[in-house]
Amino acid sequence: MSVTQLPSWQTLTAHAIRLRDTRIESLFERDPDRLKYLCLEAANIYVDMSKTLLDRVCMDSLLQLAEERKLTDAIAAIFDGKVVNPTENQPALHTLLRERESTISDALAMDRFGQVGAVRKQIADFSDRMTNGKILGFSGSPIRDVVNIGIGGSHLGAQMVCDTLRYEHLSDVGVHFVSNVDGSDLERVLTPLEPDTTYFIVTSKSFNTAETLLNAKSASSWIAKSFKTRDAIPSHFAAITSKSERAVAFGIDPKNIFPMSDWIGGRYSLWSAVGLPISIAIGNDGFNRLLFGAHEMDQHFRTAAFENNIPIMLALIGIWNTNFLGCETHAIVPYDDRLRLLPAYLQQLEMESNGKRITLKNTLTDYHTVPIVWGGIGTNAQHAFFQQMHQGTRKTSTDFILVLTHQRSSQEHHDMLVANCVAQAESLMRGQKRDTFNDTENPTEKIDLSAHRETPGNRPNTTIVTDSLTPESLGALLALFEHKTYVQGIIWDINSFDQWGVELGKTLANSIMNELSGANPSAHDPSTKALLARYKRVRGGIS
Ligand code: F6P
Repeated sequence: MSVTQLPSWQTLTAHAIRLRDTRIESLFERDPDRLKYLCLEAANIYVDMSKTLLDRVCMDSLLQLAEERKLTDAIAAIFDGKVVNPTENQPALHTLLRERESTISDALAMDRFGQVGAVRKQIADFSDRMTNGKILGFSGSPIRDVVNIGIGGSHLGAQMVCDTLRYEHLSDVGVHFVSNVDGSDLERVLTPLEPDTTYFIVTSKSFNTAETLLNAKSASSWIAKSFKTRDAIPSHFAAITSKSERAVAFGIDPKNIFPMSDWIGGRYSLWSAVGLPISIAIGNDGFNRLLFGAHEMDQHFRTAAFENNIPIMLALIGIWNTNFLGCETHAIVPYDDRLRLLPAYLQQLEMESNGKRITLKNTLTDYHTVPIVWGGIGTNAQHAFFQQMHQGTRKTSTDFILVLTHQRSSQEHHDMLVANCVAQAESLMRGQKRDTFNDTENPTEKIDLSAHRETPGNRPNTTIVTDSLTPESLGALLALFEHKTYVQGIIWDINSFDQWGVELGKTLANSIMNELSGANPSAHDPSTKALLARYKRVRGGIS
């Protein structure tokens, strides 16, 4: 049975019709308690979901949907290490990476927790030695710059956290990130660096990702060329992977390999050894504070009742906006320059997790799954895509993210930032009626300016607030989005932890790479054939 056959889904469909012509702001007048059940706080995070087109009755139906989707069991299953990724037959135990002590009694969990502890110690030792100048290059010089080579989950999280917590950086060891196979990404990072004092961390769960392996190969050539010997490579490379044997085959010294577990998804892995660059950048205490903040949110998610549970409520509000109010996209707009990489990180987290069309019953969904997740930072976004948000025909729901204090922005600057964030949330809800422009002079007889100036409003948005941006509050914020993503996957009856859809493109790219190095061309459609022929002509060297 599809989730659309559930009684709560039917009821919600009726609520959407009932509320269709309702103004969000009128719901505040109708129910003075609105903020009490639509504004929640936990783990240094306050979330205001009240600018959403739903009332208490509708919210109760969403909570019923969560019950009917057996959410309590699903939450227990993920924390207890049950198989929640059935197409890869794996648990998803990112919460264990930030666990304080094992609350799980069975031997398997204890063993896994032991592995977590061992890697945490390995990270702490390595980052302490790195930041204290104890890791020396082939020439004996202390390392000054660390370059993480990885892509997707082996890049976005660590890069985003290091960038967001840039004012928390402790040591003067530079931390850099290379991900794209476009050679200019590696070139841009290496140009200002010295091979003598540069160290590479090759991060790849599979140790089989083409872009990462090619960037690592080029980086090792850069080192070998500079020292005129490949013997220098082991002194300048470490690896983070669940396939240690492949890293050894690549030439990484086994003592510089940080294991990743198969029960951690790439896009949920910044808390694992993948966080090594974070520990080097902000110190291992800083990394532990990040884990602690996330753990606080885990405890809230695990224990709070549905209606007081921020990840669950945010997930259900997302389902309401997407599946019942027809929002096609979801914008993430942090009003903080330090969070500029967050939208890209959440794109992978949410869209690679829930961009699915087949249910866990192997049937096609007859409902939408994840909306298009996109975004940008405020206030820049106001002068870019907000025109569409206010007057466009396509519906978007929005998460504003607001940090109330800022250690590197004057009060005047910060006042204006906060004022604009709050104003945009209000204006998307309120809009502005045509009749408020009646006194506006029309430029010509043909133009009714009031019509062009009217903004419909009633655009659903949520404001996520934290008092300050610390490793703890950032950890809690990211864990919030991870749990929101999991809950939506449960409601949509899909597997949030696999990504089979990315494989075909990789396979075709590999065969085209073979063609470009002279192998017989594989069968292509005329358009692909013509594109390759065009490239071969310009590239030369092959017919
Ligand atoms: O292609 C998608 C993906 O598999 C992501 O899920 C993953 O985070 C990324 O590529 C990198 O994979 P790996 O860590 O195995 O190199």
